[in-house]
Amino acid sequence: MSEPQTRTHIDISLNILKRFNRALNFDIYIQRTESSYTKIFKKGDLIDWDRVTLYEDKGITHFYLTLSDYEIYGNFVERLGDQLVGNSKKFSNTEARELLRDLAQFTVHEMIDKMNVDERAVYNATNVVEGCLDILDKDPKGILGIMSMLSNQPYIMKHSVMVSIFSVLLAKAHGINSETNLTVIGLGAFLHDVGVSQLTFDPEDEDQLTPEQRKEMNRHPEVGRQLLDRIRGIRSEVLQIVVQHHEQPNGAGYPNGLRDNDIYPPAKMVSIADTFSSLITKRSYREGFSVSEAVNIMRESVGKFDKGLLDQFSKIVLPKKAS
Ligand SMILES: [Fe+2]
Ligand SMILES: [Fe+2]
Repeated sequence: MSEPQTRTHIDISLNILKRFNRALNFDIYIQRTESSYTKIFKKGDLIDWDRVTLYEDKGITHFYLTLSDYEIYGNFVERLGDQLVGNSKKFSNTEARELLRDLAQFTVHEMIDKMNVDERAVYNATNVVEGCLDILDKDPKGILGIMSMLSNQPYIMKHSVMVSIFSVLLAKAHGINSETNLTVIGLGAFLHDVGVSQLTFDPEDEDQLTPEQRKEMNRHPEVGRQLLDRIRGIRSEVLQIVVQHHEQPNGAGYPNGLRDNDIYPPAKMVSIADTFSSLITKRSYREGFSVSEAVNIMRESVGKFDKGLLDQFSKIVLPKKAS
């Protein structure tokens, strides 16, 4: 799947840019209209922070890079990601959130748009998951902040992060507390749709697929597993999650039509997070459903999800009833 033709620039977080205290090795733009951008700093410049403040005062909070320069910024962000996971005290909560957003964006861009599913991408994805686990511990509301920062991002980017976060929340509610297990689940969830990168069409509306496209679509869990299987050190549990995230307890899922007890439990969790995340997200062909509508739709799909896990999940996402 390629980037939509219109996406020529990628936005970056201002608080992360503030850590770049040397001459720029990329150009920086602001967006003028949907498709036009103006260069405000060029390679070799030192950032003039007074000018940045003026832009901020005018309500301009997003800065952009061209796709061709994006990798340079990505390298910078991945080094910061290492520092964050090594010692999160070096970062304020806001910086940590913005950094995780930028690192997630770079990682998904590499894997899905550029089809580079490699050791480095998985390493960065692991840092995103570990960083999110840390935020969940220290600043639980910050997780909502990360999700809201994703609102103007491409679907697959929002989806990967949201599915990862919801899966980890469900795993925790289910009593899984070991950091290793939570990281495996969060990573499997982050990577669950990596096979979509190899599709020859844009799967925007799943209900509109031709029979041939449907067949190809149904292969994405296995394609994802194969892509990841080549990566040194990847845990087999992560592959299990990726290949089984569309299996259903009633046996009607794909690719293998597994039944209830044959499905790896974390894959059942990711399946719930996956469907919930896609239902609440606005698509080009429909509005997003509200949280309670999404839960109702999922409850009505009897046999599609593990009932006990779905009940647990509902308790996390539905507002608590006043007692
Ligand atoms: Fe999928
Ligand atoms: Fe998905």
